[in-house]
Amino acid sequence: MKTIRIGVLGCGKISTCQHIGRFMKKDAKSKSEIVAVYDPKPGRAKKCLEENKTTAKICKSVEELLAEPIDAVVIATPNDTHCPLTLQAIAAGKHVFVEKPMAGNIKDAEKMIKAAEAAGVVLLVDQSFRYMNDYQEIKKQIDKGVIGEITHIRCMRVGTQPPNVCWSPGANWYVQSKHDGGVIFDHAVHMADVMQWLVGPIKQLNTTGRKQGEQAIVHCMTTMDFASGATGVLELGWKFPVGRIEFGIFGTRGMILFPTMRHADFYKTGEDKPFKTITTENVKLVPTAQETFLKAIAGKDKSGFWSIGREALAPCEAMLQSASSGKTVKVKYHKESK
Ligand SMILES: NC(=O)c1ccc[n+]([C@@H]2O[C@H](COP(=O)([O-])OP(=O)(O)OC[C@H]3O[C@@H](n4cnc5c(N)ncnc54)[C@H](O)[C@@H]3O)[C@@H](O)[C@H]2O)c1
Repeated sequence: MKTIRIGVLGCGKISTCQHIGRFMKKDAKSKSEIVAVYDPKPGRAKKCLEENKTTAKICKSVEELLAEPIDAVVIATPNDTHCPLTLQAIAAGKHVFVEKPMAGNIKDAEKMIKAAEAAGVVLLVDQSFRYMNDYQEIKKQIDKGVIGEITHIRCMRVGTQPPNVCWSPGANWYVQSKHDGGVIFDHAVHMADVMQWLVGPIKQLNTTGRKQGEQAIVHCMTTMDFASGATGVLELGWKFPVGRIEFGIFGTRGMILFPTMRHADFYKTGEDKPFKTITTENVKLVPTAQETFLKAIAGKDKSGFWSIGREALAPCEAMLQSASSGKTVKVKYHKESK
């Protein structure tokens, strides 16, 4: 198989600790190499390459990177740049691997989809939970009916500091609404998405949000009505006294409780000992988002790889609208995906 040549836009935390390494991984099935990188912050690109013990051309602009002999572009930049950079990369004929959230609103996401479909390129959004082996297995078990019909799902994911303090120090766009920052685009884009992936489409939701001195919402609570009749609660926050992740999925024949984000215990109704446990270590590995992207580029049908990203954006947009209007908001899925 031909080696896929990649250009990386954004050499911050996630490119340094994940994308560069994963796209350099030599795998018999999918080969790729990092050919060029660009980051407007002086020294960032060099540091990112050094930390990954690799070399690539360090470009001085997005335009220079897109003119390099590359097949695909990784976009790992602040959230508000995902749509314009994706459109620019697609216009240059490149396949695009873009970080979550796909865009800051559904209108922009639809523009990206239209451009990718017209150009016949792969557009894949890094909704990382969807590519985790344990979550895929949990989904399989739920679909098999091991806990019966889901009646309620709840998720609490809170931390002690926002990402511009603990994850990527100084990345203040994470708490600024003009850059589509905030806990909704950072955590709900994963957690609300996992909830709808496991339970089915959310019909409507209601969000109460708090800014706590920041420009974007850093703490919120959402109640959800699923099309199936199930209910859901999602609690997110970045300024809690402790970090905590609690997930609970309740069905007509049992429940699944998560003592940590990567450990799920399955219980039968009325029993207090789990009959099954799923962790990332006890189920088979599955292709990562990066491997899925490379396979899609090599495959015949390059369409539709955007669908998970578009689906994940739908509850986020509804949450933001509900938080600002104080009203219950219907979730708008893509007409072809739902
Ligand atoms: N999938 C996941 O689980 C996951 C995890 C963490 C972050 N992310 C996402 O990845 C993206 C990057 O996050 P991060 O933590 O690496 O942020 P970061 O702030 O550490 O890095 C972003 C980099 O992009 C650069 N940049 C800004 N504008 C640019 C442009 N026009 N062209 C090229 N580079 C530009 C910045 O200078 C910065 O170095 C965000 O969208 C974030 O939501 C996803």
